[in-house]
Amino acid sequence: MSLRFPRPSDVEVVYAWDRDPELAAWNGRPPISISLEAARRDYLSRWEDQGVKTFIIEAAGEAVGMATLYDFRRGGCDLGIKIGPRDMRGRGYARETVELLVGYAFDVLGLQVVRGSTLSHNERMQRVFEKCGFRQVGSGTLISRFDSRRYTEIFYERHRNSGSGSDAR
Ligand SMILES: CC(C)(COP(=O)(O)OP(=O)(O)OC[C@H]1O[C@@H](n2cnc3c(N)ncnc32)[C@H](O)[C@@H]1OP(=O)(O)O)[C@@H](O)C(=O)NCCC(=O)NCCS
Repeated sequence: MSLRFPRPSDVEVVYAWDRDPELAAWNGRPPISISLEAARRDYLSRWEDQGVKTFIIEAAGEAVGMATLYDFRRGGCDLGIKIGPRDMRGRGYARETVELLVGYAFDVLGLQVVRGSTLSHNERMQRVFEKCGFRQVGSGTLISRFDSRRYTEIFYERHRNSGSGSDAR
């Protein structure tokens, strides 16, 4: 597994993930409905934006997911992640990615905290946060734009000096 910055040739696969209703639902959103060309313009400008750091997760030479560091504020940032193909989930790619990005946020970017959140029924993502040393810091209510239903969102934080993921087991 490795992380790299996105390239223009990633547009089609990222678009396919953003069109996937299941992936969108995990983020409380409807799948995107814009055209590939409109999405291409959005992606290419977002991937150039210095305020958002996007990474493609690669395994065996294929793009299998995407992770983003964004919302840089108060000495920290938020982390988002998805593994696109279903058969690539549950192989530890998210845990490895989150560990690498937490290290990058602390050691390269000099941040003090990485924040994340997920829906209360997303047990896989909760497991990833826990394995990577994040702690639950609260919860809130989210009205999903996917199905207009009310969900509980759980908020997590990993602080710079809070130890490694192995402490959380
Ligand atoms: C959530 C997601 C990013 C996790 O990525 P992943 O590569 O599958 O995660 P990992 O393999 O590193 O870890 C998954 C953990 O959940 C566990 N798990 C798998 N299926 C599970 C389930 N149905 N219920 C509970 N735990 C489950 C795995 O056993 C593993 O824990 P372990 O290492 O202790 O065995 C990925 O599944 C995904 O993209 N899902 C759809 C989109 C999404 O939910 N994005 C996050 C939105 S906040």
